[in-house]
Amino acid sequence: MVTNKQRLGVGLAHSKLILIGEHSVVYQKPAIALPFEAVFSEVKVEPSNGAVTLASHFYNGKLAQLPDKLQGLRHVIEKACYINQQPVKDFKLTLTSTIPIGRGLGSSASIAASLARGIFDYFKKELSLSVLRELVDVSETYAHGTPSGIDREAVISDEPVWFIKGQAVESIEVKEPLNIIVADTGRIGDTHAAVSAVNARRQSEPEVTNQLLEDLEKLTENARTLLKTGDLKALGHVLTTSHEKLKALGVSDEGLDRYVDISLSNGAVGAKLTGGGRGGCMIALTASTEQALAVEQALLKAGAKETWYIQLTNGVKTDEKNSTCTHEYRSY
Ligand code: PMV
Repeated sequence: MVTNKQRLGVGLAHSKLILIGEHSVVYQKPAIALPFEAVFSEVKVEPSNGAVTLASHFYNGKLAQLPDKLQGLRHVIEKACYINQQPVKDFKLTLTSTIPIGRGLGSSASIAASLARGIFDYFKKELSLSVLRELVDVSETYAHGTPSGIDREAVISDEPVWFIKGQAVESIEVKEPLNIIVADTGRIGDTHAAVSAVNARRQSEPEVTNQLLEDLEKLTENARTLLKTGDLKALGHVLTTSHEKLKALGVSDEGLDRYVDISLSNGAVGAKLTGGGRGGCMIALTASTEQALAVEQALLKAGAKETWYIQLTNGVKTDEKNSTCTHEYRSY
């Protein structure tokens, strides 16, 4: 018999990468996202008398006293309890996350998903995908205002996904393994500001901005075809072109552009920012493990705060042997 003392709920969720289609996805265009398992969040739920507490490296204390910017998490926890018809008391949450915040890796969505999974596991209730989506949305709306929903889908899926706002998500085919280096500039991006800036540009320069969004749509469609046929060189070109379009939209910055250039001059077949931009992370696609490691070294030499190497087939695999994590995580 399981006693109250032994009761434990555990929830896990990986982070995500947007391969292509960020920003244009906000305007009903498609995007492709990949699960990124090298960094993840984990929540443990255990019995504890009285008020619910959260222990994490960004907050330690009572749920009721969470600061404003973390209210989204409180709402996820309260809603998860409500759905389970349980009072919000007599348990404690311990959250660990290796996902750097504000780097376009889906930290807030991943944390919301691991909280929801942990609480449902604790109450021994099955968590349907639709309820999980609903709970992650609660937090994402707090964190980002009006998110497209791509972060939510990417952190709950173990497969690369084709995402269009408001439509059912599709898994996509990846014929050849993708060798990808992810590099963190170490600078926090501001997705909210970047999304607002694109929206403002649509008002002030509608023609040129809408053209850029349409270009991104076409590039994303091409990327899907190239993933299916396995033409990595052409895919790389599509990714680099999409970076140029994002730059023209005003969501890149000098640091990201520099890492893209360094990746290309060190053998990457394509490179681009990933996520909201204006800081955060970039990705470089290479044709082999050797090339990936050469690009990774060049990016570290150029000052990347942290890099990861992933090899993606039809799912995502992290090659831990080769994964280089040289710097301390700054996590949320
Ligand atoms: O959370 P981020 O930084 O990965 O940005 C998500 C992608 C955007 O297209 C920029 C915003 C959105 O809501 O889709």
